Amino acid sequence: MHDRSTLFAPARFGALPLANRIVMPPLTRSRALPDGRPGPSARRYYTQRASAGLIVSEGTAIMPEAVGNPDIPGLWTPEQVTAWKQVTDAVHEAGGTMVAQLWHTGRASHPSLQPGGKLPVAPSAIAISGTTFARDGRVPHVTPRALETEEIGGIVDRYGRAAENARAAGFDGVELHAANGYLIDQFLQDSANRRTDGYGGAVENRARLLREVLDTLTAAVGADRVGVRISPSSTFQDMADSAPVALFTHVLDALSPRGLAYLHLVEPGIVGDDSTAARRPADGIDSAWVRGRYPGRLIAAGGYGREQALRAVESGTVDAVAFGRAFIANPDLPDRLARDARLTEADRATFYGGDDHGYTDYPTLAEQPPAARG
Ligand SMILES: Cc1cc2nc3c(=O)[nH]c(=O)nc-3n(C[C@H](O)[C@H](O)[C@H](O)COP(=O)(O)O)c2cc1C
Repeated sequence: MHDRSTLFAPARFGALPLANRIVMPPLTRSRALPDGRPGPSARRYYTQRASAGLIVSEGTAIMPEAVGNPDIPGLWTPEQVTAWKQVTDAVHEAGGTMVAQLWHTGRASHPSLQPGGKLPVAPSAIAISGTTFARDGRVPHVTPRALETEEIGGIVDRYGRAAENARAAGFDGVELHAANGYLIDQFLQDSANRRTDGYGGAVENRARLLREVLDTLTAAVGADRVGVRISPSSTFQDMADSAPVALFTHVLDALSPRGLAYLHLVEPGIVGDDSTAARRPADGIDSAWVRGRYPGRLIAAGGYGREQALRAVESGTVDAVAFGRAFIANPDLPDRLARDARLTEADRATFYGGDDHGYTDYPTLAEQPPAARG
């Protein structure tokens, strides 16, 4: 039985202490330095949000070839580790808990973001349709290069090293990004994976990379400091599977015995960084479905408002709720939710890149003029 609690009650997710059940999910802000160090205002940005029960860092590249968006941070150099340590120290001082989201973008990357201008790598040479945001703005996706079987172990090792670096950088743990059409998700779903080796075909094979990376992360930092993010029903970046229920049943069965810190589910109806009008399509793999098949701690993300979040935790459907866009615009979100205060709307124009405007200048309730407090 899962305990019933409230959104504001503390919890332990594996080795991670949460002051409440309100999670800041990974949010790419494209404000890192050219060498992959977090930018000069990252420390302030995350510390302002340290009242979250858990902060998951913006997607952070495990190696140069993992980078797939402009100005994202990494965890593969000593300089990056040192810079992140300043962020995590400040978050801890402010009472927060913070994990690093480990990211390899696979085919979602672009040669303009790759070392030597090479093609991005993927399970199979299948391009995402449409355009991507690359070094110089919007460009069509390229057809990626299919990884040789022998190359895959090297990538798994890089995940392990990034996890060790995350701990050295003071993060309390790591979240494996296996969602939203990036590398791990590309291996999982057969619209992107047409391999004929041990990493393609049957669901057991398509989930092999996920299992191997989790083995490595667990060896590096301990299972109770590892979370995983999945988005079974997202269609972002052309993701689709011919038998999603069978695939994700297998994935949950593979995750269940591992004693992970948590599973982080992106609810149906969320496409990347946006939600469609209908929040909960009836046929999606949602938190209620996952709850019945996964015994560990469950965080749900995607389109949650205060009332739904309160209900989801109180009913025991989830253990915590992540608020993405709301955390961008409300650094003091837990306090606002506790008071049922009005939330500031996030400005999409400043989501990715730019200066501190739309980054560290969203006010707390106390800093806001009384008329706007609602
Ligand atoms: C600006 C922006 C950047 C995002 N970056 C990431 C990311 O790096 N990794 C990830 O897994 N999800 C990312 N997401 C998705 C969010 O974590 C979250 O799932 C999504 O915003 C839905 O939650 P919401 O409705 O509460 O905003 C991003 C979303 C936004 C708005």
